[in-house]
Amino acid sequence: MTSAEIGLIGLGTMGAALALNIAEKGFRIAVWNRTTDVTRRFHAEAGGLAANVVPTESLKELVVAIKPPRAIILMVPAGKAVDDQIEALAPLLDKDDLIIDAGNANFHDTNRRAAADLGVRFMGIGVSGGEEGARHGPSIMAGGNPADFERVKPVLTAIAARHGDTPCATWMGEAGAGHFVKAVHNGIEYADMQMIAEVYGIMRDGMGLGAADAAAIFQKWNEGTLRSYLVEISGAVAAATDPLTGQPMLDVILDAAGQKGTGRWTVIEAQHLGAPVPVIEAAVMARNVSSRVDERKAGEALYGAAPQKLADAPSADELEQALIAGKILCYAQGFTMMTAASATFGWNLPLPEIARVWRAGCIIRSDMLNDMASALTEDATRNLIMAPDFARRIEAALPALRKIVALGALNGLPVPALASGLAWFDLMRTARGTANMIQAQRDFFGAHGFDRLDGKDAHHGPWGLSAS
Ligand code: 6PG
Repeated sequence: MTSAEIGLIGLGTMGAALALNIAEKGFRIAVWNRTTDVTRRFHAEAGGLAANVVPTESLKELVVAIKPPRAIILMVPAGKAVDDQIEALAPLLDKDDLIIDAGNANFHDTNRRAAADLGVRFMGIGVSGGEEGARHGPSIMAGGNPADFERVKPVLTAIAARHGDTPCATWMGEAGAGHFVKAVHNGIEYADMQMIAEVYGIMRDGMGLGAADAAAIFQKWNEGTLRSYLVEISGAVAAATDPLTGQPMLDVILDAAGQKGTGRWTVIEAQHLGAPVPVIEAAVMARNVSSRVDERKAGEALYGAAPQKLADAPSADELEQALIAGKILCYAQGFTMMTAASATFGWNLPLPEIARVWRAGCIIRSDMLNDMASALTEDATRNLIMAPDFARRIEAALPALRKIVALGALNGLPVPALASGLAWFDLMRTARGTANMIQAQRDFFGAHGFDRLDGKDAHHGPWGLSAS
């Protein structure tokens, strides 16, 4: 029976949560999963929402169940599974039907699919917020044809998180723009998490604090400038106790971070764009190093452990200030990267809107994003560190950031993301840098030429004649 307003393929954790969210907002949704038992169980467990769910047991049945022109959301693993699913589904659809990839696709794949002749319409949307977000309100970064977005906007805005009255679902641009913005979101997610882990490391190893003390500090920070989902959950995980041993949960978890690759994509793309995101780079690097557990153990055995409990340990307030500075620098880099992507890919990524859709629903949601949205609304072309409000905050927090990075360096307590943020900031605030040396070297060995400060018309050095 043709009765559903939308379809969804893939009833894994995220797909199931999204389908229930859609059903709950009053849309009739047809669902299909490769394993029929999963579909049946999903329907059986949908409770009061089951009336809005049409379980189907074949792709054909799914297509028939949806009113044309159809919209079908794919929630399958990124990569080949998406291509395979499109290949199986597209021949069953009409040319005005729309396939929506809502997984964590690499935006290059989304660009490729959007440009290919699939015989149907296609768009890629980034969805953030984990299972809880998908179920009760994610942040949605849509890409593709604007008319296609308009078609599904009523559903997407109904299921999205809300900041006040504003739904966190926006069209970012053509083709892979939505998945690109989601990748930058994930890169920033890595960086926020890493910087929190770094200040936790200073608390634990530099200040001798236990997990419960760290929890209290995070909880306090979550009432101030740093109020955010990630600081909140850091407080919660630090406060948790292991039911098996009675020890703090954090103290029994192996210090090797997993990753699915989205942070790495962001870093690679930033390099291609010439728009570096060093805080994110450091975060990806630190995750990779974290997984080398045996090598790190051998390193400590050879070089000795860093001294515990520093005599000149920082205060919790200084750590908070360092984290505030690091966060601003990281977001400034991320937004600059998106400006570069707009120029390179012919998008016009709406930076103020991006800050707005990140205010609720997604993993990096925070109060500070509201102020960033205001600063970007004033002037989206200006680097965030030049916005008066953020310049004031950086100036106030900078001494603490310098102190933490210096203490880390002097004592062997690793703070790579905070240190990378500071190094980038110092490059950005230096009018007369040192690349004159690099230009001279390049000209010396390769006659690459240089510009002169005085504008005179001599673009090569005298060394060519005397070089041996
Ligand atoms: C989100 C998250 C999510 C991501 C996980 C795991 O916005 O909801 O970014 O999409 O897949 O956080 O990512 P890693 O395994 O790479 O840490």
